[in-house]
Amino acid sequence: MNAKTSRPAGDDAAAARREHAALASEIARHDRLYHGLDAPEISDADYDALRRRLGELEAAHPALADTAEVSRKVGAAPSEKFAKARHSVPMLSLGNVFDDEEAEEFVARVRRFLALAEDAPLAIVVEPKIDGLSLNLRYEDGALVQATTRGDGETGEVVTANALTIGDIPRRLAGSPPAVLEARGEVYMARADFAALNAAREAAGEPTFANPRNSAAGSLRQLDPAITASRPLRFFAYAIGEVSAPPAASQWGLLEAFKDWGLPVNPLARRVDTAGEMLARFRDIGGRRADLPYDIDGVVYKVDDFALQRRLGFVSRAPRWAVAHKFAAEVAATRLEAIEIQVGRTGALTPVARLAPVTVGGVVVSNATLHNEDEIARKDVRVGDWVEVRRAGDVIPQVIGPVPARRPEGTVPYVFPETCPACGSAAVREVDAKTGERDVVRRCTGGLVCPAQAVERLRHFAARDAMDIEGLGDERIELFHAEGLVKSPADIYSLAARDAASASPLHEREGFGEASTAKLFAAIERSRKAPLARFVYALGIRRVGETNAKRLARHFGAFDALRDAALHAVRGDGAARAEFEAIDGVGPTVADAVIAFFAEKHNEDELDRLLPALDLSPPEAVAEGSPVAGKTVVFTGALERMTRDEAKARAETLGAKVSGSVSAKSDIVVAGPGAGSKLAKARELGLRVLTEDEWLALIGG
Ligand code: IVH
Repeated sequence: MNAKTSRPAGDDAAAARREHAALASEIARHDRLYHGLDAPEISDADYDALRRRLGELEAAHPALADTAEVSRKVGAAPSEKFAKARHSVPMLSLGNVFDDEEAEEFVARVRRFLALAEDAPLAIVVEPKIDGLSLNLRYEDGALVQATTRGDGETGEVVTANALTIGDIPRRLAGSPPAVLEARGEVYMARADFAALNAAREAAGEPTFANPRNSAAGSLRQLDPAITASRPLRFFAYAIGEVSAPPAASQWGLLEAFKDWGLPVNPLARRVDTAGEMLARFRDIGGRRADLPYDIDGVVYKVDDFALQRRLGFVSRAPRWAVAHKFAAEVAATRLEAIEIQVGRTGALTPVARLAPVTVGGVVVSNATLHNEDEIARKDVRVGDWVEVRRAGDVIPQVIGPVPARRPEGTVPYVFPETCPACGSAAVREVDAKTGERDVVRRCTGGLVCPAQAVERLRHFAARDAMDIEGLGDERIELFHAEGLVKSPADIYSLAARDAASASPLHEREGFGEASTAKLFAAIERSRKAPLARFVYALGIRRVGETNAKRLARHFGAFDALRDAALHAVRGDGAARAEFEAIDGVGPTVADAVIAFFAEKHNEDELDRLLPALDLSPPEAVAEGSPVAGKTVVFTGALERMTRDEAKARAETLGAKVSGSVSAKSDIVVAGPGAGSKLAKARELGLRVLTEDEWLALIGG
């Protein structure tokens, strides 16, 4: 089954923008479920399909890439349970390909980027993609000093004591490794060990794990290392982080070095020379999949030569020099018993399929996503139908479509509700003023009166990446909301005072207790001082995710300034609107969403109640990184030491903005041989003009 078949069409800009926004929020939610809670709701294959579609839209409409931080984000913020450590070299993710053609295109892209001649050799290492969780092992003078999970890619959880209980992970390396060596690899659990662990948990009445990956993640992220020690975890090394001296010149050399030092390396890894051999290896490994004692969900292709890897560099969340080739998902047919509509924080009505339980790829499935109203109509999915269901590695999969030959008599086309199932308000599809097109998503108009939205908004407000109120999780929010104790964010800050005066205070209730209630109130107190950007994010303004919240916070420096500008814009002040649009990375769509938020009276009322309770921390000054951070650079003429793409990518990695045209706003013009009018203009404007070599010297080679 190919993920392509389920892709909705829609190339025009407005439709793309809407689809992109809907996808971005869906992906962000799945990121939180998967990385933060180890409790995914959809299969990896479905998740990949979402990401892939997001990538396609961004490729076709580059301006969209700035509106969604999920495009750049990897994983979820590290848990509060563990001490945190910043990765000195970020732990990034991998892009995916799903068929031979795309795998070949990966090689072609690498060659193009490096401007390699057709007959120039390009070795690729093919490794199985282990379905576990990545771990960074820091060795100093050969001794393991720290182990960290990936976390959000920038900061991970310190799990050293737990890692030390894993038999595959040496405490001391053999041979003579560099003084500082970060070995990275995958912690996983063998299928048989997973089955035995689950059987034991079931017998003990404990909840079971959905799959070996979740089981490995849950076992590693234990506060008590004795528990981790009792779980049969294993490890394969496949990458490096910080190193004091390069341990090898290539990936293949690195794998060899790992073996010499006593780190386990997957025995199926091979080095190949052509795309054809690469695909043959993919098929070979795929053929062995069922016989392997552990789960793999594809293979990883890596450019072998480290010098080439360095030149290729990274795009936002993944290296250009590596890609994962995923195995196709598994499919089964079952009966669609009902379609339920869930209401999200933004009022989006999402259809969920309730299925007669069926085993797909070894996991029993009874819920699946149906995407949206148009998808249901396009595929004519009816309650009572036999439907094909697809999943790969994890829990809630996707309905591909009905099996027409098995349609029972008496089914009727599904009618998507036009009222919100949670509050009864009208549910509408917004119509784009310019294009006249309807949004794919139907939304409840009930705003704050809709309990589903209120609960979702509260959840978002208190979440770890927002106001970070520990102890105010989903269950408590639902409880407090149902009882009328907390109906909106401002109520959170009066909860302690009201509780003190209450006849039945929280600490007397089951599930609370003195200590837990005190902790909750302390967390609420702490959150009053939340950083401005988190508060802006916590408000749940459409299109304002963490990145845009940071941009707004940095630009305005204080909430009052932001609010003031927005209110001016609401009143039609063109200069105020222009100020939003001019913020780097913000643009008109986000500006519209921010202004629309402040135009809502109930939001304003809520802010009036909320702000006096808060003492937000101002944003930190932007770190002064490289000598070109924040500078606008123009490349013109021929470049001789790197391709144009490469030059642009490096500059951007160093925090520079690359522009195609010279203006008074440009800071540096890098001019190669043959530079013409742009160079002339740069001289005329008195801009700083550098040769390619001077530029390289400036950025450190
Ligand atoms: S290399 C910068 N190699 O897949 C590239 N990753 O989807 C770092 N994974 O985060 C990753 N097997 O947890 C690499 N042989 C392998 C892998 C592998 C499994 C995981 C890893 C990574 C994720 C990306």
